[in-house]
Amino acid sequence: MKKYFDNIEIDYSYSFSDKTIKDTSYITHGYYTYPAKFIPQLAERLIKENSKEGDIVIDPFMGSGTTIVEAIVNNRIGIGTDINEIAFLLSKVKTTPIKNTELVTEYAKFEKDLPYKLDGRFDYFLSEAQKYIPENERIDYWFLPEQKDKLSVIFAQILEIENKNVQNFYLIAFAQILKSCSIWLQKSVKPTRDHKKKVYEPLTLFLRQSKKMIKKHHEFDKKLSENIKENIDLYRNVSCGDSRNLNCETEKASLIVTSPPYVTSYEYADLHQLPSLWFGYLKDLPEFRQKFIGSAYKNRENVDLRSNLANEIVSELKNKKQNEVKNYFADMLESFEETKRVLKHGGRACIVIGNTEFQGVKIKNAEVFQEQFHNIGFKTHNVIKREIPSKMLPSTRDPKTGKFGKISDKNIKLVYPTEYILIMEKL
Ligand SMILES: C[S@@+](CC[C@H](N)C(=O)[O-])C[C@H]1O[C@@H](n2cnc3c(N)ncnc32)[C@H](O)[C@@H]1O
Repeated sequence: MKKYFDNIEIDYSYSFSDKTIKDTSYITHGYYTYPAKFIPQLAERLIKENSKEGDIVIDPFMGSGTTIVEAIVNNRIGIGTDINEIAFLLSKVKTTPIKNTELVTEYAKFEKDLPYKLDGRFDYFLSEAQKYIPENERIDYWFLPEQKDKLSVIFAQILEIENKNVQNFYLIAFAQILKSCSIWLQKSVKPTRDHKKKVYEPLTLFLRQSKKMIKKHHEFDKKLSENIKENIDLYRNVSCGDSRNLNCETEKASLIVTSPPYVTSYEYADLHQLPSLWFGYLKDLPEFRQKFIGSAYKNRENVDLRSNLANEIVSELKNKKQNEVKNYFADMLESFEETKRVLKHGGRACIVIGNTEFQGVKIKNAEVFQEQFHNIGFKTHNVIKREIPSKMLPSTRDPKTGKFGKISDKNIKLVYPTEYILIMEKL
């Protein structure tokens, strides 16, 4: 019988419960609200305790790039990939040093030009700006016509910036305000419209967000060593791709620090659809969803999960869920095999993962992953149980609406209140 992790004591030193939002959004960490991102202090600790300066640290599911930022500010080489273009753009911006003067100059142009361009009397700017908006009916689904027009004028001016790094920086500021400027039900993880939503002023939000980011980018620039700043492309390599095909030579990396997607926990493809629509990344949503591990929208037959526990769990599930969970474990196994390829012997993989439940069946992701790792040539270095900091990962949501709420609400069920950090070592 397999040993489960239920009885492991919580290690409160990993909760970082004393950290404020200010602490967790230091340097570039707070640019964009990325669901299920982990707090930088966790990534930093895992990096410092399991690697040394100059080592290669990889995050195969980099999301908002937390691991990569922490890798480079702690003098490691950071390599990351994510299937989501927004994650890629975000991670790139968060790890690219940019001269403060360049950001400030462009900001001054926004401040000067945009109020004039957005003055309703100048239809010319609007018709010019409309050329930049990708044709997609879903933009009209999410944005009221007036908001869409205002956003278009801002978007067009960003796209006219010649310096790509500066342009990308402002695209992220733009991406961050989109949800507030749309009729997306603000606190929902499911794409739901709210026709009564308060309408925000896009220009005010954009300037405020940009200003905040400029300050933070300056802090990031100061924290980065001169050598890394000047040779950034040698120290960080981020890409948009699959976790099963990492951008790293065989047996070169020392450490993996990652939090993989959860099976059908969030539809990441859906969650980032607002910026994806504007940036023209989203041509075909159903096709895009298929690429995500943990997505409900795919199918796989006859696979060896390399875990008896995984087989037991799958056999207890019914209907669609059975296939979903099987696909998830199969995809994750392939991803672990890829981490094995890139890691040196003695290199470690730190996997941050929570367990969940479907149809009354406990989905013991952490235990399954440990078994899969053992079966492909790793040993366990440590298993840590930690509390999830509610400031970063909302821990309560209504199972029907997907809306986050207070613990006291009666419909609200706690999701992932604790999670595990598996530290596996390659033999
Ligand atoms: C839990 S999030 C990671 C969050 C990240 N630790 C952070 O701090 O922002 C999981 C990520 O896995 C990505 N993902 C899903 N399927 C993937 C795949 N096949 N290859 C690479 N990334 C994938 C999702 O886009 C999502 O960004």
